[in-house]
Amino acid sequence: MSLKGIILAGGLGTRLNPLTKITNKHLLPVYSKPMIYYPLQTLVDAGIEDIMIVTGGRNAGDFLRLLGNGSDFGLKHINYTYQEGEGGIADALKLAEHFAGDDKVVVILGDNIIEKSIKKHVDEFRKQHKGAKILLKKVSDPQRFGVAEFKDGKIASIAEKPKKPRSDYAVTGIYMYDSQVFHIAKTLKPSKRGELEITDVNNVYIRKHELTYGILDGWWTDSGTFDSLLRANNLVAKKERSS
Ligand code: DAU
Repeated sequence: MSLKGIILAGGLGTRLNPLTKITNKHLLPVYSKPMIYYPLQTLVDAGIEDIMIVTGGRNAGDFLRLLGNGSDFGLKHINYTYQEGEGGIADALKLAEHFAGDDKVVVILGDNIIEKSIKKHVDEFRKQHKGAKILLKKVSDPQRFGVAEFKDGKIASIAEKPKKPRSDYAVTGIYMYDSQVFHIAKTLKPSKRGELEITDVNNVYIRKHELTYGILDGWWTDSGTFDSLLRANNLVAKKERSS
């Protein structure tokens, strides 16, 4: 059974207004490349070649002009789909159901940028019999993210942007799922912010005792706010200058 990749690049990026007033957040520059290049390269470096980009909002056609069939990344083809509105990460994921079929998927958020490879985690998940795997990272500001609560070395639950985080471990925007995920996504109800939350999906896997986790090596950042976008630029610049 093969493993497919999904990049979620929908949403309206309103936290970056007016930068996102006339273009899509994931096309904005992060140092020397458009934001979307980084998650795409992360999937390719993990050995994933069958990839779908879920886009949405403004200028979605520009993704096609920018990436085409992915020849700059050594790909033969890229699949695209369009999310209407801003229904949440799990809503965007639902659009990839036909693409995924019965295969397992590695999902990455279009604004998540990392320093090192995730190949070892992806290879572990290839061997995982069923369920899901998420990647965590210790952070100094966990209240901005999904946060894992541990019990006996296992994740007991995940809280979305908790005021009082129960650990320093953020849930990064890299998720691995078996095909149950599409069934789970259909059972979700919108959260207080009116979105279908990926944290709710992960909590279903926890209740089924089917969620494993890994800790991400190297730095990780999102780039969806002014401060995190600046941080992403600086981290990437430092990495590229030293390579
Ligand atoms: O970055 C990791 C965090 O991402 C996790 O720790 C949180 O648990 C998770 O909920 C998410 O938090 P954010 O609230 O920061 O996600 P945001 O709304 O900024 O969306 C992140 C990406 O997801 C965005 O760049 C594109 C994609 N997305 C988002 C929405 C709301 C979509 O494709 N469609 C959507 O409707």
